[in-house]
Parts: sequence; C-alpha cells; structure tokens
Amino acid sequence: MHYLETAVEIAREAGALLAHFFERRVPFELKGEFDLVTEADRASEKLVVEKLRSYFPSHGIVAEEGGGCQGTSEYRWYVDPLDGTTNFAHSFPMFNVTLGLERAGEMIAGVIYDPVRQEMFTAERGAGAYLNHRRIRVSSTQKLSDSLACTGFPSRKRHHNINIHFYYQLAMASHGVRRTGSAALDLAYVASGRLDFFWEFGLKPWDQAAGALLVTEAGGMTTDMRGQALSITASDHLLADNGALHEEVLRTFREIFEGRPPVPLPELG
Ligand code: IPD
Ligand code: CA
Ligand code: CA
Repeated sequence: MHYLETAVEIAREAGALLAHFFERRVPFELKGEFDLVTEADRASEKLVVEKLRSYFPSHGIVAEEGGGCQGTSEYRWYVDPLDGTTNFAHSFPMFNVTLGLERAGEMIAGVIYDPVRQEMFTAERGAGAYLNHRRIRVSSTQKLSDSLACTGFPSRKRHHNINIHFYYQLAMASHGVRRTGSAALDLAYVASGRLDFFWEFGLKPWDQAAGALLVTEAGGMTTDMRGQALSITASDHLLADNGALHEEVLRTFREIFEGRPPVPLPELG
C-alpha cells in the first residue's frame, strides 16, 4: 500500500481547499475562550477524513474537529485539517494541513503541506525526510548560543501556561525564539534546518504526529522536555532539535523546572 503517496495526494487537495478559503477571508467562531475554528477547518477535515475512509476503510482516524473513527486495524491516522487557525483567521500566511500514520503505536509516515509556499514535507520511517522530493536534514549548529529556536503557546489553557519562563530564558541564551503559530511547520522547519530546535507545552497528538517523524528521519531528536521518550498521545510537552543541542537545551530546561533560571528576570521600570 502506498500510504505516503496517498497522504500526499490528500494533503495537496486539502491544501488547495484551504488556499481557496484563505483568499476569501472566512470569519471565525470560538470553540472555547480564544480557541478559534473556521469553516475552512471543517471543510478540510471532511475532505481528508472522507478520502482516508474511502482508501483505507479499516484504518482508525483521530482528527482535531471530531470527524474521526475507531477503525478495526492496527493503523491510525492523526489529522490536523488546519494547523495555524489563528494565523489563518487573521490572514497571516502561516498554516498547513498535516497527516501522520501510526502502525501498532509507532509513527510510520507523515506529511505536512504548506499551500502558501507550496512546500510538501514528507517522511517515512527508515526512508528519510523530504521537502518537495529533496532530502532534508537537521542543522549542524553545535551550541545553544549559536541557535535559532521556536516555541508556541496553545490557545487552550493559555492562562495556565508556564512557557513564558522558558521563552525568556531560551531567548536570552540563543539568537532568538520565533513563535510562528503553526506547530507542525515549526517541526518541519527543525527537520529542514531552518530552525535548530522547537519546544511546546500542551501539544495535541495531531500537532506532532507527522512533524516528530520528520525530525527524527532528518537526523534530529525528539523527547519530552525532561528528556523522557516522546509519546505523541501521552507526553504533555515536546522538545525537537538537531540532536547536537539536545543535552544543552535539556540542561537549561532542567534549571528552569528546578527554579534555578540562568538569567534573572529584569525589573519593571
Ligand atoms: C495550534 C498551532 C499553534 C500551537 C498550538 C496549536 P491549531 O494548532 O499549532 O502554533 O501553539 O499549540 O494548538 O489550533 O491552529 O490547529
Ligand atoms: Ca494544530
Ligand atoms: Ca487545527
């Protein structure tokens, strides 16, 4: 079965649909306080889920807007029909559609498609990671002080997010910390060496499924923020990097978790 090729075809179609809605500017609704959803999220999910079900009727599907199904086989797709909804709703051109396939608990294929730049990121377990058919690799940056980082802040539970402490410390220790608003693209950018590392608290399985595989297939590392093995369904936080920076970033995280941040917060005024 050509799982990856099929996922690429579906992502391209869903991406074209998203691009169409993006041109038109669609209004948003609120799923929760500050948690946006649009007609485009739902239309993209309908397209992706219907296609997956027609090609792979026995596969399970976990999709963000609730359109998934249980399935009867060991295969399960994780689908984010529009990752970066807040950007999308504000006409900020940074969003994607992403599909990741798991077999018996292990990620085996993943696709992240950015229709604005027409960039298709793909990975298959053991076969490397690619951007528009060209092999990609993580960066070779060796020191945190030479790195460019990225993080995110989930819309849900935003008032309980401790990440601002990490943002400040890592921004002081690196060339800077970007916040693009699209976790799957953040991971794809680590895989392609555009970013040296990415972390976030509170990601959902569909935000990480394809991207985590891309990073490891591009030669990088993924764990949770305490250095434990990553489980996209069980881990509450993620660190993805080029491998060389892993220990140094984890050490910095540890100092922050333990209440010994390397740089004191500046006084106001
Ligand atoms: C969100 C984006 C954002 C990240 C959030 C995600 P959504 O996904 O990836 O960058 O910070 O954690 O929930 O809601 O736009 O699909
Ligand atoms: Ca998402
Ligand atoms: Ca989404």
